[in-house]
Amino acid sequence: MTNTPLPFVDLKAQYARLRPSIDARIRKVLEHGQYVLGPEVDELEAALAAFAGARDAIAVASGTEALRMPLMAEGIGAGDAVFLPGFTFPATAEVVVSLGAAPVFVDVEEATYNIDPAALEAAITRIKREGKLRPRAVMPVDLFGLPADYAAIHAISQRHALFVLADAAQSFGGALGNRRVGTLAPVTATSFFPAKPLGAYGEGGAVFTDDPGRAKILRSIRMHGAGEDRYEIVRIGTNGRLDTLQAAVLLAKLEVFADELQARERWASLYDRHLAGRAVVLPARQTGAFSAWAQYCVRVAGRDAVRAKLAGQGIPTAIYYPKPLHFQPAYQAYGQGAGSLPVAEKICNEIMALPMHPYLDEGTIARIAAAVLAAAE
Ligand SMILES: Cc1ncc(COP(=O)(O)O)c(C=O)c1O
Repeated sequence: MTNTPLPFVDLKAQYARLRPSIDARIRKVLEHGQYVLGPEVDELEAALAAFAGARDAIAVASGTEALRMPLMAEGIGAGDAVFLPGFTFPATAEVVVSLGAAPVFVDVEEATYNIDPAALEAAITRIKREGKLRPRAVMPVDLFGLPADYAAIHAISQRHALFVLADAAQSFGGALGNRRVGTLAPVTATSFFPAKPLGAYGEGGAVFTDDPGRAKILRSIRMHGAGEDRYEIVRIGTNGRLDTLQAAVLLAKLEVFADELQARERWASLYDRHLAGRAVVLPARQTGAFSAWAQYCVRVAGRDAVRAKLAGQGIPTAIYYPKPLHFQPAYQAYGQGAGSLPVAEKICNEIMALPMHPYLDEGTIARIAAAVLAAAE
């Protein structure tokens, strides 16, 4: 068996496919010279909104800004509680703390790794009973590309008058039934970090909403809070702008994005077939839910030894995430200590991401799966 090192994400193969289009679009930007919020940004916003089926897409500087700006627009700050899963990338909680509000960590479902609606309800009840913080918002995260249980989350958010901001950094391209990510919550944030399913060649993100009033406020926040006249500052904003070169790259990649999503689904199904019924726990499959497959993660006992064996055969893996947020030194103070999020705490010890990108092939999947099974059994 070959030990040739494999890439975890193969951006070179993607560039080989898209080179003429990416190069031409970049050259066009170099020629017109409008490097920030240039014409490609408008074109990208229209294309993203059309792809998602949302009324508006606002292109921004990063996924983190895409999460922070809607919270600013909602006026969330000191004294407010924002509920989010304890098993996520730190940015989900970071934006909350950066505005002076408090993240409340909620446990996840063992099957999907997404926020557990029953645990969310319990956390809201606890915060109300304690009476120190105002429950204001919930941020479901579509972990690894799989949309969260938005039907259950909306029912809870309506009962408690909470704003729902979807952290879809990993799930752009996913869907629930015939509704694409971008339309599953009143406001949705995604990331165009290079390794994401739709990735730029630098930082980028977008916010989706069907509410024109919100979209207008978000565009103002993106430009330091400018009003109709850009030198009239009507609210506190930030520099949330996307640069035009990133928009140009994203436009080229959008042309093949639907095809790439299908390829991700094909490779995920093939991993499933090779690994089913064996020593690993597979990612959840739910009727009507389409994952963007940002990651293909399995759970395995003795994970660290398995990873070491795979690394020895040139197979890279990654751990998303090694610790739940309430175990991270910077976020401990917002949590309830060990044992408070039992599912998240357990998953962190077992989870392992395998190489996932559209440019895999059947032989490579077979090689990786065989190595995982040999290492795990
Ligand atoms: C769940 C989640 N939220 C937020 C972010 C932040 O996105 P960015 O890195 O584009 O700021 C990421 C990606 O890194 C993420 O995976």
